[in-house]
Amino acid sequence: MGKVAPRLPWFGEGKFPLYLAPMARHTDVAFRQLCKEQGADVMVTEFVQSEALIRDNAKAWEMVDFTATQRPMGVQIFGATPKSMAKAARMVCDRMKPDFLDLNFGCPAHKVIEQNAGSGLLRCTPLLYDLVKAVKDAIPDVPLTAKMRLGWDQTTIVAVEVAERLEQLGVEAIAVHGRTKAQGYSGEAHWGWIAEVAKSVNIPVIGNGDVKDWPTAHKRMIESGVSGLMIGRAALANPWIFSLIKSRMRGEVNEFPVVTPKQRWDVIIRLSELTLQEHASALGERDIRWMLGRLHPLTHGLPSSRKVRESLRHCRTLDDLRRLREEHQREHAESYLA
Ligand SMILES: Cc1cc2nc3c(=O)[nH]c(=O)nc-3n(C[C@H](O)[C@H](O)[C@H](O)COP(=O)(O)O)c2cc1C
Repeated sequence: MGKVAPRLPWFGEGKFPLYLAPMARHTDVAFRQLCKEQGADVMVTEFVQSEALIRDNAKAWEMVDFTATQRPMGVQIFGATPKSMAKAARMVCDRMKPDFLDLNFGCPAHKVIEQNAGSGLLRCTPLLYDLVKAVKDAIPDVPLTAKMRLGWDQTTIVAVEVAERLEQLGVEAIAVHGRTKAQGYSGEAHWGWIAEVAKSVNIPVIGNGDVKDWPTAHKRMIESGVSGLMIGRAALANPWIFSLIKSRMRGEVNEFPVVTPKQRWDVIIRLSELTLQEHASALGERDIRWMLGRLHPLTHGLPSSRKVRESLRHCRTLDDLRRLREEHQREHAESYLA
């Protein structure tokens, strides 16, 4: 704990940052804003293809957008060609001025690994190192970080050797998701390997994989030697996780507090407002039907949550959503008394 990275001031003695994990199609500007309000310390955009940025693809540039209140922000890029990665990195740093640039060595999707990008690079480490060198040379003025898996499969775990080489190449922090490419998202994250990586380098290592509440966060903090934690899927249903963990870290609460229906609805409405602000609906300015899917995970934990999700399908506007909340409150008045 407490490793220092001079250009990443959120690490250091007495600091233990909580990162929101980048998640394609989920962690857009609106969701990140929600997590920031809920206590996430550091955030990264979802991965964006270097070639798409170079081609000036509008969607790709929209994906790397962020607001000043979300800083410190990293932009994550992926690709397999050192020249394109270096060029895209320079363009991103010039236009977006992120606090750091992050390289993706973790994505297991077929369309990514077939280009040798993402976790595909973990079975092709000479190319991975060339790519890091090229990007580092292109953006000496901006901190460079990486996010990787443990290796291609269980028989080829390369996390420690890759981390050591990345440190030598000037990478300033590394997030390690404790799974192999072959695991996808199944099985468990192997925190023993994350601890090995943390032990082997002098730069901050951010541990990632299956942190879902205070007990899991606490166990990983004290056992693995990481300098921060990164939380992904748990935040989709439970964006409060950041503030809850932080209050426990400060020793402020004795019991892990239960999230009330009122708090859940506040967040559902807030995310809808933020999403509407950020993306004018293709169906019309006020139509919220296209975003209802992202609200589903947040309803888990409400009384009669299945019925709420069923009713959500009939909501077209924010006012419909607010009416649904009021109905729910009337029907379950006793659970709102807390
Ligand atoms: C839907 C989804 C999209 C993801 N997209 C990205 C991505 O764009 N970049 C990345 O580095 N990792 C991505 N990941 C991996 C997560 O950042 C994280 O490493 C993984 O979910 C494990 O953490 P968790 O157990 O806290 O969810 C994605 C994961 C999911 C579930």
